[in-house]
Amino acid sequence: MNTSPVWHGAQKRIYMQEVGTRDGLQVEAAFVATEDKIALVNELSDAGLSKIEVTAFVSPQAIPALSDAEIVLREITRRPGVVYSALVPNVRGAERAIEARADELNLVMSASETHNLANLRMTRTQSFGGLAQVAQLALSQGVAVNVSLSCSFGCPMEGDVPEATVLAWAQRFVDLGARGVTLCDTTGMAYPGQVATLTQAFRQRWPDTELTLHFHNTRGLGLANVLAGIDAGAERFDASLGGIGGCPYAPGATGNVCSEEMVHALDLMGYDTGVDLTRLITAARRLPGLIGHDIPSQITKAGRRLDLHPVPADFDAIRDRALARDAAHKLSR
Ligand code: COA
Ligand code: ZN
Repeated sequence: MNTSPVWHGAQKRIYMQEVGTRDGLQVEAAFVATEDKIALVNELSDAGLSKIEVTAFVSPQAIPALSDAEIVLREITRRPGVVYSALVPNVRGAERAIEARADELNLVMSASETHNLANLRMTRTQSFGGLAQVAQLALSQGVAVNVSLSCSFGCPMEGDVPEATVLAWAQRFVDLGARGVTLCDTTGMAYPGQVATLTQAFRQRWPDTELTLHFHNTRGLGLANVLAGIDAGAERFDASLGGIGGCPYAPGATGNVCSEEMVHALDLMGYDTGVDLTRLITAARRLPGLIGHDIPSQITKAGRRLDLHPVPADFDAIRDRALARDAAHKLSR
């Protein structure tokens, strides 16, 4: 029997991909100042994240919070080895992102027709047609392509999306030359058994394509889904600092799995995330000041498991009284 406290992680590498600066900030009412965004991305680079989705090159009317995408992506300090990604919805966005030196374009469409229409104002077929052009443009410029398939674990308006539908859309992007596919649980509908099945199916079909899992913690299942994904063979996960985030076009959407909670849990389980948890928590604790409200993160409030608290101020008196009871008891016998 294995009695080691290092449980089944055994130093397996898990790649942490930060989406707080895109998925997180896109829904914030407050505009986070451009220099604060740049500083935040730099802190995340220093903390050891493998990939950072820095921003989105979308219509500034649609998402005003990210209207400074060019400046942010150009002015961050690039740490060797970190992949700086940007979300793009169309060719216009791709041109802007390539010009600003994105390492990777994250294309987005939904596995659900209804959600795709609500979010992107196109049918899935129309989206795919546009994204195929985006992929061609990116690949011709030597820029990598990832596609994020929203609602891969269910649509808040349609319900379950068949696994075959999700895999068929993934296939079309793999055929275009995408390096990776992200299966997104846009509104927290995923559950561990489903995550395991879809992850295994994906891994078997495309062992050489980078698979990322992207969960929202809408129903409290985020971390459980991450663990189910790891057990089924996934090694890349999106997460957001402070647990902020959510799709503005998905009813009831809430934040992503929280980066620092995930790293805290995976560290304890013996996985190697490459992330410096202290730096990550320091960055997360600055977030409420930037966005003007509290964040879901439990770890920023409670601290790490072994961040101990001082004993009560009257601890000596409590102990003396307790010991005196022992002494009195002995005398009375
Ligand atoms: N970058 C900058 N501006 C863009 C743009 C881009 N990538 N794509 C479109 N626009 C501008 C157009 O120039 C146009 O501006 P104008 O009215 O001043 O001429 C306006 O946006 C509308 O463009 P149009 O081509 O008609 O697109 P649309 O209204 O159908 O919008 C989207 C389509 C998807 C590009 C837009 O709604 C969008 O960016 N949405 C954000 C989606 C998102 O990020 N969702 C959350 C992530 S899951
Ligand atoms: Zn998301």
